[in-house]
Amino acid sequence: MQALLDTLAPGSDEWKLALSLDPSRLPAHIAVIMDGNGRWANQRSLPRVAGHKAGVEPVRTTVESCARLGIGSLTLYAFSVENWKRPQSEVETLWRLLRYYLHREMPALMKNGIRFKAIGRIEGLPPSVRHELREVMERTAANPGMTLNVAINYGGRSEIVDAVNALLDQARREGTLDRLRLDEDLLASALHTAGQPEPDLLIRTSGEMRISNFLLWQIAYAELYVTETLWPDFDRKELLCAIQAYQKRDRRFGGIHASGQRNLDEPILEAVPVPAR
Ligand code: IPE
Ligand code: IPE
Ligand code: MG
Repeated sequence: MQALLDTLAPGSDEWKLALSLDPSRLPAHIAVIMDGNGRWANQRSLPRVAGHKAGVEPVRTTVESCARLGIGSLTLYAFSVENWKRPQSEVETLWRLLRYYLHREMPALMKNGIRFKAIGRIEGLPPSVRHELREVMERTAANPGMTLNVAINYGGRSEIVDAVNALLDQARREGTLDRLRLDEDLLASALHTAGQPEPDLLIRTSGEMRISNFLLWQIAYAELYVTETLWPDFDRKELLCAIQAYQKRDRRFGGIHASGQRNLDEPILEAVPVPAR
């Protein structure tokens, strides 16, 4: 938290926002559906790929700000398994931009101690992209700071299916298939995000009120924050606003909140009528 404050101009809106946050209740994991690049470009009569290009800078700002805030995990949705439906030229531009980002950001990832992890069906990506991703993952693997998961060729359903198949294969190899029983912990241990906390806060830009097959298992109790801002316009102030909104939420996880409620030991005044047999 202090690392972020040190980079902000005292008295600025961002500085005031950052100061308003409770450092002891920051989300352990933030997930972001980075949406609206195409519309951003459309509004400027530019080709869609110009929107993707403009979307690189907010990735940089978000990653750096989260690392400085002390967030444990950040997951960015970069390409879904459904995004292959887009024109080939758009998809190829996305791979070029991804490689450019990885290449350019490598020093910053090292400097900020960020561990990079690609999540999704990486084997389905073009070899050059796969190669670049593997290299960045290997070089940052021992970094002690924030984990940056980038979801590429990712689908929440395919992740769950892949996890179940991986557990079945393992049991088959070990000869324990007839005794295999799934439970929530075992399934979670086979997901890409194994060992990381579940997202506390899920941000989606561009105003769309949907999940689009993102982290279906992991967001069971995430707080959702949707902003109308298009991804290329998402900045540090927006990020801090989202965290501020998150800190105002009452997270009950299916229980009840003790404060402001009637003491549970108080005698019940009205008897609950029991239906006659
Ligand atoms: C999000 O922006 C980036 C990717 C899905 C790769 P979009 O490209 O979906 O932008 P819109 O939703 O068409 O505006
Ligand atoms: C979700 O955005 C995927 C990414 C942000 C990478 P989309 O633009 O693909 O989602 P839909 O089609 O609007 O649901
Ligand atoms: Mg979109």
